[in-house]
Amino acid sequence: METIIKKITHTEEDKKIYEQAGQILRAGGLVAFPTETVYGLGADALDAKASAKIYAAKGRPSDNPLIVHIADVNALYDLAKEVPDKALVLAEKFWPGPLTMILKKKDKVPDSITGGLGTVAIRMPSHPVAAELIRSSGVYIAAPSANTSGKPSPTRAEHVINDLSGRIDMIIQDDTVDIGVESTIIDLSEEVPTILRPGYITQAMFEEAIGKTIIDPAIMGSLKEGVIPKAPGMKYKHYAPKADVTIIDSSLEAFRDYVKAHGDKDTTLMVFTDSDCEGLDMPHICYGANDEEQAKELFDVLRDLDDIGAKKVYARCPNKDGVGLAVYNRLLRAAGFQVVTL
Ligand code: TXA
Ligand code: MG
Repeated sequence: METIIKKITHTEEDKKIYEQAGQILRAGGLVAFPTETVYGLGADALDAKASAKIYAAKGRPSDNPLIVHIADVNALYDLAKEVPDKALVLAEKFWPGPLTMILKKKDKVPDSITGGLGTVAIRMPSHPVAAELIRSSGVYIAAPSANTSGKPSPTRAEHVINDLSGRIDMIIQDDTVDIGVESTIIDLSEEVPTILRPGYITQAMFEEAIGKTIIDPAIMGSLKEGVIPKAPGMKYKHYAPKADVTIIDSSLEAFRDYVKAHGDKDTTLMVFTDSDCEGLDMPHICYGANDEEQAKELFDVLRDLDDIGAKKVYARCPNKDGVGLAVYNRLLRAAGFQVVTL
């Protein structure tokens, strides 16, 4: 199929884009659109046939559930069987924004988008294009990240075009994706809220709002054999470039010493800033001086590594708290859990 690509211009013309996209969604088609975290690949969430197309376009395993995007908090009562007080507190504080809540689902939410789980993931995005698309289309939009399954999530339209062109009906282009890593996921379907995926909203922010939360162990490492992660998406190899990536968890000095001892002509360095590479004569890519910059750049840099044909990559280790934890969690998967701690 030919994919329609339309760019937001902030003029009257945009109205036509939303009309066309809305028509496609209501007719059971697929539309990729920007959000504040990453681009999403949307379909009518309550149309099981439409959302099945998402899995085919991405090559996504059918047991990996989708997030339902809403434009109005009241939609919670339409989709969730129970809306706990903590969900209302979090919605008030962090919505619209980069937060996904897992709640017990109502029957009207098709099993095909929840991987057969009794729960549904719900998010109200703050990006004006996402919000307007959901509102004007009149449907809830089921949307995973708009990448081919296994690849880094898309932070630019170009990434979506490379991955999905010819496989989906429409791409709305507006390169104002800001955060760069996917939303924080918190499971509120059980007694103690559990963070299933770290993101821009951190554990400290949750605890200030609703008290005790737990971090799912799957976030920090690969799971022991036989253990099933609560967020099915966490079990898959993800984000990985073709290169063999190793995270070096160390001081800058120890990083330089390690690279001098183990690097060779095939090595590319993934560092915070240029100055990290002083005295090292190997190609390098910078991914940001602080947590926020790293979150914004990470997925683009992982794609760049493929573009330059990197074979072996040594990466400096991000912080493991705050927004840094979200970066670490993604990089860990890109590295296939290979970490050298010095
Ligand atoms: O920022 C984001 O969340 C982006 C934008 C487009 O909104 N979306 C996104 O979707 O990252 P996706 O499909 O790439 O990641 C969804 C994650 C997966 O790991 C999936 O397993 C988990 O959410 N998930 C969805 N429904 C769930 C449920 N009912 N229980 C547990 N985990 C769930
Ligand atoms: Mg994804």
